Amino acid sequence: MASAVKRIGVLTSGGDSPGMNAAVRAVVRTAIYHGVDVIGIRRGWNGLINGDVFRMDANSVAHILNRGGTILYTARSEEFRSEQGQQKAVATCKLLGIEGIVAIGGDGTFRGCLALAKHGISVVGIPGTIDNDIGCSHYCIGYDTAANTAIEAIDRLRDTMQSHERCSVVEVMGHRAGNLALYVGIATGATAVLVPEHPWDFQTDVAERIRSARLAGRTHFMIIVAEGAFNDDEIMKNPGSANKVASMIKEELGIDPRVTVLGHIQRGGSPNARDRVTATRMGYWAVECLVNGMTNRVVCHQGGTICDMDMDEALAMPHTLNASEERVLEAVIGAEQS
Ligand code: F6P
Repeated sequence: MASAVKRIGVLTSGGDSPGMNAAVRAVVRTAIYHGVDVIGIRRGWNGLINGDVFRMDANSVAHILNRGGTILYTARSEEFRSEQGQQKAVATCKLLGIEGIVAIGGDGTFRGCLALAKHGISVVGIPGTIDNDIGCSHYCIGYDTAANTAIEAIDRLRDTMQSHERCSVVEVMGHRAGNLALYVGIATGATAVLVPEHPWDFQTDVAERIRSARLAGRTHFMIIVAEGAFNDDEIMKNPGSANKVASMIKEELGIDPRVTVLGHIQRGGSPNARDRVTATRMGYWAVECLVNGMTNRVVCHQGGTICDMDMDEALAMPHTLNASEERVLEAVIGAEQS
């Protein structure tokens, strides 16, 4: 069957995540397999606005499967939020004959897709964000690699904390989502984990947990704080959640915690097996959607299967924490209190 599109563009947008390159590679190679031309769009939506594009072939994506970051560069485009910016992007598509776009990123990226779709361009989104906060997909490209990077760093911290009998407060990324913090908290045996999705109480969820751990014989404590844990607009603008929690600990318990903000380290590095394979499967699926005449789709990972969903519906799905992981954490941390 002939492909519904003859030429497509591919871009990465928002914060980069390990595995984005693997997804780009799969998009390019699958398109070539179907005889579809691929245009690489640099710097997210800005590239489409400014015509910052280049032809891609099988060689342009050679040796990138294992590379972190994104060879297409990425950006958060202010201009694309305006009607004028979107018109410029549409003009680039028309000029170059780009009939479909595969956009790899988070929910902001998908909202950009919808804006473009209104102008008749076919769009498919692929979830790529270390925050793992896309409601329609159980998994986003980059999450597992980022979690492993954080875990490795925290294991190292634990060695020195244990030697000095200290308390560490570690801030992990995630924007307004606590998935990464929760997952990393389970994997590192944290004393307490603070996430934005649930209101938490310093006395019960931090001070008492440290006290109980001390009474149970522990002499070092690991507090994992999601960067958005305070669910506060001001703190999101001027990050400092871990510092704030550390000050509260010092004041309440009289111990002097050390703060580590893992920051952008979590976004870099070679993607692990899970991210390479998931990204490749998602990139393939996105092109299959376009080739088969579908538009406004988000590629999703649900229960181990790759599928796709209407983009409006996908964006309306709220992001939630993994409930079973929450119960596990509560039981394992809670046991220290009993
Ligand atoms: O969305 C990915 C993410 O790394 C968030 O976890 C974090 O809040 C944000 O991006 C940081 O953005 P920037 O790289 O622009 O500082």
